[in-house]
Amino acid sequence: METYRRLFRYVQPYRTRMVWSVLCGILLSGTTALVALLVKPLLDQIFVARDTARLLWFPGLIVLLYLVRGLLSFGHAYPMRTIGQSIIRDLRDQVFRHVQALPLGYLQQHHTGTWMSRIINDIALIERAVTTAVNDIIRQGLTLIGLVGVAFYRDWRLATYAVLVLPLASVLLVYVGRRLRVYNRRAQEQLERLSALLAEVFSSLPVVKSFGREAYEHARFQRRNAAYYDVIMQAARADELSAPVMECLGAVGVATVVWYGGHQVIAGHTTPGTFFSFLTAILMLYEPIRKFSRLNNVIQGSLAAAERTFSVLDRPSEWTDETAKPALPPIQHTLTFQQVSLRYQADGPLVLHDIDLTVPAGEVVALVGASGAGKTSLVHLIPRLYAPSGGVIRLDGVDIQQVTLASLRAQIAVVSQDVVLFDETLWQNIRYGHLQASDAQVQAAAQAAYAHEFIMQLPQGYDTVIGERGVRLSGGEKQRIAIARAFLRNAPILILDEATSALDSAAEHVVQYALANLMKDRTTLVIAHRLSTVRHASTIVVLHAGTIVERGTHDELLAHAGYYRQLYALQFKSQE
Ligand SMILES: Nc1ncnc2c1ncn2[C@@H]1O[C@H](COP(=O)(O)OP(=O)(O)O)[C@@H](O)[C@H]1O
Ligand SMILES: [Mg+2]
Repeated sequence: METYRRLFRYVQPYRTRMVWSVLCGILLSGTTALVALLVKPLLDQIFVARDTARLLWFPGLIVLLYLVRGLLSFGHAYPMRTIGQSIIRDLRDQVFRHVQALPLGYLQQHHTGTWMSRIINDIALIERAVTTAVNDIIRQGLTLIGLVGVAFYRDWRLATYAVLVLPLASVLLVYVGRRLRVYNRRAQEQLERLSALLAEVFSSLPVVKSFGREAYEHARFQRRNAAYYDVIMQAARADELSAPVMECLGAVGVATVVWYGGHQVIAGHTTPGTFFSFLTAILMLYEPIRKFSRLNNVIQGSLAAAERTFSVLDRPSEWTDETAKPALPPIQHTLTFQQVSLRYQADGPLVLHDIDLTVPAGEVVALVGASGAGKTSLVHLIPRLYAPSGGVIRLDGVDIQQVTLASLRAQIAVVSQDVVLFDETLWQNIRYGHLQASDAQVQAAAQAAYAHEFIMQLPQGYDTVIGERGVRLSGGEKQRIAIARAFLRNAPILILDEATSALDSAAEHVVQYALANLMKDRTTLVIAHRLSTVRHASTIVVLHAGTIVERGTHDELLAHAGYYRQLYALQFKSQE
């Protein structure tokens, strides 16, 4: 019920349309009862009394009645469809916005495909709860009441016989509905797993193909596809069985009526007109009852989807406490870490601990360490992609947890090893750093990033659409686009996470120049695996197993026989 109430809040903006639709629905149900009611005069006055005058206008009346019904039916159904689709659109917008704002740690607990499935499939199911439900509850419900009314009006005793089966039917409805809700929830979960697999495979096609694992992936897909089929069929059995069982119960009712009513007519206690009018009402009840039993099933499925959707919406997002916080003032750019620690999961290992670090304004601090030491984790804390488990990070003395995310992130530019580009033009990809930038500013940024030249050599220049994740560009080219983007962002704090590690030395050279340009006058934290970058840093910080083990300049650290010297021998010496 709670879920329903919440769902109907989404109908609020479309109330007027709803009222119109409901009004037409009510009138439409009225005409249905009218059809049953008219059977009596038709039979008794025309067929039994042989009144030719009435025979003239009666057929006309029938056509008119159905014309009105047609208009009412459209006036009822069309606005309802509009409302249903509007609600889906609104809900999808809201869920998309919310899901994007969920903390990264939570989002990463689920697969990308899961989120897609929730936004596409779950919400599509919800539409039916709103439209079909309102539609049928009102229309079929009123028709039901109208027809039962006619039945009782014609012969209340007969009517009582006919509805004796109803309590049994409703018990059945409730039971089937409950089962269906369970099946539907399972079906959604299976569909999510299927989407997850799809998302994974289609984003890894080069690997799948080069390892020749198409059959392997197909087998995985088949298994999940079959699992989905199984739950769907469970639901289908319950769904398809419920209607015939209802009908059989109905037949028992009708049989009783024919038997008893037949006796009444033969004995002359009632006219054939009354009896057939009654029987028509009972037979016409068949349709709304069948729809009602289906309706219950549909609603149960939709409610399962709605519950899942609402549970996502109820997760606190990154923006939950934002309004109470002040914006971060434009910073002088000194960045400090005090006793910072991090666990990704509450019961997980300490990935970082006892981090004390200062990056003075305008200087370059290099972070070095073996793979898995925690370098990326450390820099991800600065734009608050994750919250530290302990300690404080400050910018000019202000705790970054206490200011708005937007103001914090606006002062940070990140260039990482995995460049993320979008399937849009180069204009749009570079402008991602600063949406209002002019064309001249975009070109200036590209120039500073040593990207302008290669862009101009592309057949469509800046208008080139670069393919999903930039598949049409080389590693070095993508990297320079990312740097141009960071230029355009023009943020005082710069984070470089192994920005050149994926490149060969020729490509790297150009990117190095671009980066040197970018670092000018910015407070920079650079995760480095290149000696040249490390040498230019004012301080080198050595991270090992989640904590800082050494710090100093290159020469200081080399002079001292510590961890850096080992690392240097392994990683940097060959670059001399
Ligand atoms: N999102 C994550 N969830 C859980 N553990 C993670 C996550 N990201 C990194 N880790 C773990 O944290 C440790 C440090 O990783 P990372 O910061 O990426 O190291 P580095 O960048 O120095 O190679 C690793 O043991 C890694 O398994
Ligand atoms: Mg890393």
